[in-house]
Amino acid sequence: MNNGLKLLAVSFLCAFSFTASAQKWEHLADTPQMGWNSWNKFQGNIDEEIIKTIADAMVSTGLRDAGYVYINMDDCWHGERDENGFIQANSKRFPHGIKWLADYVHSKGLKLGIYSDCGTKTCAGMPGSLGHEYQDALQYARWGIDYLKEDWCNTININAKGAYQLMSDALRAAGRPILHSMCEWGDNMPWRWARNIGHSWRIGPDIWCSFDSLRVFPTYTQYSVMNCIAKNDTLRQYAGKGHWNDPDMLEVGNGMKNSEDRAHFAMWCMMASPLIIGNDIRSMSNETKAILMNKEMIAVNQDKMGIQGYHHSDVNGLQIWFKPLENGDWAITILNPTQKSLTYGINWQNFNFKDTQVSDKSTDFDKIEYHVRNLWLHKSEGKTSKENRVERTITVPSHDVISYRLIK
Ligand code: GLA
Repeated sequence: MNNGLKLLAVSFLCAFSFTASAQKWEHLADTPQMGWNSWNKFQGNIDEEIIKTIADAMVSTGLRDAGYVYINMDDCWHGERDENGFIQANSKRFPHGIKWLADYVHSKGLKLGIYSDCGTKTCAGMPGSLGHEYQDALQYARWGIDYLKEDWCNTININAKGAYQLMSDALRAAGRPILHSMCEWGDNMPWRWARNIGHSWRIGPDIWCSFDSLRVFPTYTQYSVMNCIAKNDTLRQYAGKGHWNDPDMLEVGNGMKNSEDRAHFAMWCMMASPLIIGNDIRSMSNETKAILMNKEMIAVNQDKMGIQGYHHSDVNGLQIWFKPLENGDWAITILNPTQKSLTYGINWQNFNFKDTQVSDKSTDFDKIEYHVRNLWLHKSEGKTSKENRVERTITVPSHDVISYRLIK
């Protein structure tokens, strides 16, 4: 081949490799990601001291050892871009810079997350990544970032799939494994196209600290816990290892009743949702801590099969949810969304079903006697019965749950 032809071939190959989409970073979220994010509690009022002391608390409380490893800065860490277009941190809020903070967080056995936006500006008006995707990904990689939440404000006339693919490619090209958490609010149904682009995608509007009230503003709406559950109920077939439906971050410890926090957390575990804590863990109550650190519930969320739970039925006002687990086990949560306490007699034979939608697993209560483990009282409570009779009668208080692991 003469030199001219060689040059042509090389340029052709380069052009091809720049236009072809890379694969996203694999195995960063084989089970739903667990961590903390600043937004629900602090909104834009974040600084180095908060992030650093939250990292300290992640360790001292035991949350890190329970599996919560990401410390994620949300909106408003940003300063300006430098003369070459590289984004800088706000130097007043982060006087030591992000690299220093990442080193600190890593020294604690934790990982650091950051936040950006596909558009011109973030939702709080900070610089967005539009037109700077490769530079931003490179900067995050240089800083030692492990997680990117990418928002969707100020994106008029932008194609969602293209925008998220572009950042996914940029993260891959930057060479550091960074989990890509898409925050597009479900507007363009990312569950249909984002499986190979991001590791999770928001399914709806922002959550707020309410069990069951929708909050409507002139230009946007906020979901309650029950609104998030209802939306996610329609999407279970799209979730799986490495690509999760994200009904938004936890409001546990931010002001709901203890029972409501428990129901919220149990349902996020049943739905294999990312578990991103949103309260001030430096000053949480023992009740909040017990909920967030319920290892038996966390094990349901982190089950290796990675199947989102199934809303089996509604009986007498109660919602019955099942989640297939490894080794033929099942989790069951009975959720009371009503205003009054409800009593219900469980006949396991009413729950014989096959999950034809996702896992193909059958409960087989007519063939198997499962050991029943109460996941909130942390005690074993006998076995399921193969007989067609009420085996136990339960009372579920208002806005609360009972959760069992059925062990084969
Ligand atoms: C959007 C996101 C929130 C949060 C804010 C920050 O509303 O959905 O989770 O990141 O922006 O401004």
